[in-house]
Order: sequence, then C-alpha cells, then structure tokens
Amino acid sequence: MMFGLRFDGTQDQPCVAAESERTMTDTATGGPGLPQERRIVTSIPGPKSQALLARKQAAVSDGIGAVLPVFIAAAGGGVLVDVDNNSLIDLGAGIAVVNVGNAAPAVVAAIQKQAALFTHTCFMVTPYEGYVAVAEALNRLTPGTHAKKTALFNSGAEAIENAVKIARYATKRQAVVVFEHGYHGRTNLTMALTAKSMPYKYGFGPFAGEIYRMPLSYPFRWPGGAENSGPEALAETINKIEKEIGADQVAAILIEPIAGEGGFIVPGAGFLPGLADVAAANGIVFIADEVQTGFARTGEMFACDHEGVVPDIIATAKGVAGGMPLAAVTGRAEIMDSVHVGGLGGTYGGNPVACAAALGALETIEEQDLVGKARRINEIMMPRLLDMQTKYPVIGDVRGRGAMLAMELVKPGTLEPATDVIASVTKYCHQEGVLLLTAGTYGNVLRFLPPLAMPEHLLEEALSVLDKAFSAAG
Ligand SMILES: Cc1ncc(COP(=O)(O)O)c(C=O)c1O
Repeated sequence: MMFGLRFDGTQDQPCVAAESERTMTDTATGGPGLPQERRIVTSIPGPKSQALLARKQAAVSDGIGAVLPVFIAAAGGGVLVDVDNNSLIDLGAGIAVVNVGNAAPAVVAAIQKQAALFTHTCFMVTPYEGYVAVAEALNRLTPGTHAKKTALFNSGAEAIENAVKIARYATKRQAVVVFEHGYHGRTNLTMALTAKSMPYKYGFGPFAGEIYRMPLSYPFRWPGGAENSGPEALAETINKIEKEIGADQVAAILIEPIAGEGGFIVPGAGFLPGLADVAAANGIVFIADEVQTGFARTGEMFACDHEGVVPDIIATAKGVAGGMPLAAVTGRAEIMDSVHVGGLGGTYGGNPVACAAALGALETIEEQDLVGKARRINEIMMPRLLDMQTKYPVIGDVRGRGAMLAMELVKPGTLEPATDVIASVTKYCHQEGVLLLTAGTYGNVLRFLPPLAMPEHLLEEALSVLDKAFSAAG
C-alpha cells in the first residue's frame, strides 16, 4: 500500500507507536487529489505531532533539526497535511525538491511499477535501462548542444564531490575556485567548498585543501553599488586567480548560478558569463551547481539558461526525481570520459526506483510546462512581494528568478540583518499554516520555493498571510 506509512518508517515490522499515535496515515492518500486548502484544526504543532516530536527527541540525533516540527501524513499539489489533520500551504517544496508536486502521479506510478520489478542490482554490476534513459534525458535537457555524458549519484553533495573529482582528473590540476555565500553540501569536500561556518562547518574540520574562495557578485550588498557588482566582482576574481593561484593551476570554477542557502543571491549581469569565459580561456572546467536551481525552478529549465551560460559540467539533484534520492553530473563527453573505468560510481548511484521516479518527474516537467508555471508563479508573487516592500521598510531587497524568490530583511535604511523580524514573521506564518523557509549568510532571508504545481488561489492566500505577518511584526 503506497501511502500506508507507519511513523517508524516501516511497512512490515511491528510499529512501536501506540495505536492512537498512528492517526490517519493508514488510509491517507497524498498527491494533487488532496483538498487544496489551508486548514488549521489544532495548535501548530498539534498534539500528535508533539508526541512524535518527543519520540524524535529521544531517538534521533539532536544534530538533525526541523524547521517546523509538524509530522507529515500526506502531501500533494500545494499542501502538506500533518498527523493532526492540519493542512499547510507549502512554500518550501522540501527545499526545492518536489517541483512537480509531492506524490506527483507520474512519479508515483513509475516508482510503483519499478519497485515491483526490481529494486536494485547496482548499475556497476548489472546495468538497466532506466539509468541510461535518465542520462539521455539529462544530456538533452542541460544547457548546450555539444556531446554530453552523465553519471548518477545519490545526493547533491555527492554530485558536487564527483564533479570536482572529474574536473581534477581531466585537467590534472588541483585548485578549485569557489565563492562567498556558496553552499555545496555537508560531506568533507563539500563543507570545504561551502562558505558559511555555522551550522554547516563549525567544529567539523579539518577540511579538504586547494579550495580558493572568491567574492560573489551580491548586488544588494555590493559596496560599489548594485549595478557595479557584476563587473567588479568578476575583475576581483580574475585578479585573485592570477595572483593567488595561477590560472593554469585551477582545475575548476564552481558556482551556484543563484546562491541558494546563501540567500537567493542573483549575481549581477555578466558575472556568470564572465567566469565561464575565464574558464574557457584558461582550460578550467566551469562547474555549475544547479542542485537547487535546476529543473524549471527559476523559469528556465536551468538557471544558467537565463544568461546563455553553457557550463562544462552541471551538477543536479533535488528536483530531478520528484523526491527520490538521485543526483547527476552531466558534462562534456570528453571530460566525463577522461576518468579511468571504475573511477566513478557507488553502490546505490542511479538506483532503479530513483531513476524511474526521475523519468516520471522529467516527463511531468516537460508535459505540464513547469517552466511556464514557474514564470506564472513569478508573475503572481513578484508584484505582491514588491508591494509589501513599499509598506514594510524592513524588507530591504526582493529578488530571485521564476519560483525561486526571496526577501532580505534589514533594519530600515541599513544592511544590518533584521533577525528578530524574520523570526517573528516566520513564526506567524507557521502558526497560520504557511510553511516558510529562511536562508542567507546573515540568517535574514525569507525564501519562497513553492512546488510548481501550486494552485494559484493557495499562493495568493499564502501571500496574504505573509503580508499580515509583516503587519503584526510592526
Ligand atoms: C546548491 C546546492 N548544492 C549542493 C547541495 C547539497 O545537496 P544534498 O543536500 O542533496 O547533498 C544543496 C542542498 O541544499 C544545494 O542547495
């Protein structure tokens, strides 16, 4: 039974939870057929979530946090339904994962069919078609018309690790150029690639070497003014590469086309194409980390497409498989093929069930024109967010592309983070049944990542709640 989950995550072992704690999930079905409504029937979190939270606290490492500890029973379209039967508007999409919507029909059907056939062989032992089909789809959909090849992995961090491995192997160089405000994951190498210490890196060193951090074009905070941030950050980066590393020592320039965890920072025009040109001129592999920005999220299939940037390697994950763990490295065929046989892989990379889900998700993205849906979400949200900016001076910046939008909150007239306001706005929204995420190097960015399947009336309602939250924050 697809949605017959117990809260211990098992199907076939005795559940230790009391019968009363299991609530509605044995019969619940998720997906877009769920009532698309905001519904608050208990406090948030409600009593059943609180009981589960107590179990989480007793059983799960404290190192694993929860933005909003309501335990989810079913989800789909634009809502998350919790075990207390509250229905929350989802502005997070599982951190930009369920772009196609939760439990999207094509994803569910593909998973069910594949799981009934076989769940694993290890592609490196005996291959199967689904992996190849995902590789073909990614080679076709990612930017550029050159010959491409793909390797599949399990998580965004693993994709980034492998992108760097491949770039180093192909160039026989070691240095990797990354940027301030960048986030690339939580493994040892990706922690080193990531900019922010707390909570991602703090206390977890020592970190991998040969990583060089450069200034990111951050228009809102650029000392020389927003319009100069692209060219000035580019010039500074080029200078630092030449003086501090030596361009012929650099294996890769790695960047998120829009910094995600760093606060949805859209670099100034020309910054990304300029970096790609520097890479091309110096035999450096240009790696785009599109783990968060990929698969229609920004109103193009990939964020690089907004400025016609064609990366040598693109790393993807999150939105590729509608919620199943899958990640990919797609790149120029000659770079991807430079590695010796057996140099890449992993037991689960490109798991058949995850690949089936990806084929369902990619079909949904194309057939339902989710690129167009992301643009439509932008058309609805952007004017309302800008209107709020005129009313509430704490909103220093409204930015983003497509359905990847953010507000940076500062003490009015300054660049000082308004962390107290972000806490109260987020709390208000959560209490009122709108799931919001935050981000940003300074912890002062509200980020909006609705599933692209979000019904418009729910989006409007969520924006009204947000407006009231700012009003209540004073
Ligand atoms: C841009 C970017 N790169 C890499 C990662 C790491 O992905 P994962 O959490 O799947 O390892 C993330 C995750 O948020 C991300 O946003």
